[in-house]
Amino acid sequence: ERAPNGRPLRAVGSFLNITRRKEAELERERLELLIRQAQKLESLGVLAGGVAHDFNNLLTAVLGNLYLLRQAVPEDPALRELIDDAAHAAERGAALVRRLLTFGRPDIAQDEVLDLDTLVAESAALARPMVEPQVKLVIQGGPGRALVKGSSSALEQVLVNLFVNARDAMPDGGTITVSRSTVMLTSKRRWAPPELPRGRYHVIAVRDTGTGMPPDVLEKIFDPFFTTKPVGRGSGLGLPTALAIARAHGGWLSAESTPGRGSIFRLLLPVLDDGEAR
Ligand SMILES: Nc1ncnc2c1ncn2[C@@H]1O[C@H](COP(=O)(O)OP(=O)(O)OP(=O)(O)O)[C@@H](O)[C@H]1O
Ligand SMILES: [Mg+2]
Repeated sequence: ERAPNGRPLRAVGSFLNITRRKEAELERERLELLIRQAQKLESLGVLAGGVAHDFNNLLTAVLGNLYLLRQAVPEDPALRELIDDAAHAAERGAALVRRLLTFGRPDIAQDEVLDLDTLVAESAALARPMVEPQVKLVIQGGPGRALVKGSSSALEQVLVNLFVNARDAMPDGGTITVSRSTVMLTSKRRWAPPELPRGRYHVIAVRDTGTGMPPDVLEKIFDPFFTTKPVGRGSGLGLPTALAIARAHGGWLSAESTPGRGSIFRLLLPVLDDGEAR
């Protein structure tokens, strides 16, 4: 079918249809990926929790015996050094196991009523010595008073992890900007995860001006043990743990990134009504 001037009439319409179908397909693929990721985390969490528990007992035995050995050996600096090295390695193992345990089942007493601005300020105070002066940490706050129910120590861990990741992404310096907002989650929102019920959520956005991530990295950042950092620098548990903690709060953690420009991580937490806060 053509217009009197000879230009095709339908071409534009069918082009739009194809685009829309492609978009719907992409959206479905994206949701499937999110669901698969959540399931993978679930089963890995159970596995990690079990293994970590056994390791904890083993490392306690190793450390206890090294302590006794240290008392028993004669004053020999060379021997002492060997024992101290072994104890140091075992302690590092124990620290890693503690992180695995958190990742398996985040230990969260959800009874605290938390003010998000206080939480952000306290996390920033914790992170500042690790971040500044190489990187600037700017807190923008948000409208009104934002209350959530949860564990301040677990949520601080999430934010500190995000700040440290942002720092690592800005070896030549840059700025971390933390802002707060509220969203009404409907199924239409681009980064709305499938498992979250609709409703109002507080959002803490952590934005950096760092390297950003190419899509093939972005896809894997919530996989346990995925890291692009040198051995000894990163264990690849920061983000999976952070996501597990966010989920345990009925929330979510999402990431968006532009290579060469930077990344935005958004921590979503369900809004606590004034009535529930009392
Ligand atoms: N803000 C960011 N900018 C660029 N890349 C990031 C950012 N945050 C995370 N990443 C990428 O995601 C990977 C995984 O992050 P995650 O925090 O889980 O582990 P890690 O930082 O490598 O190690 P860990 O946190 O256990 O010390 C990082 O190695 C990095 O490649
Ligand atoms: Mg990290």
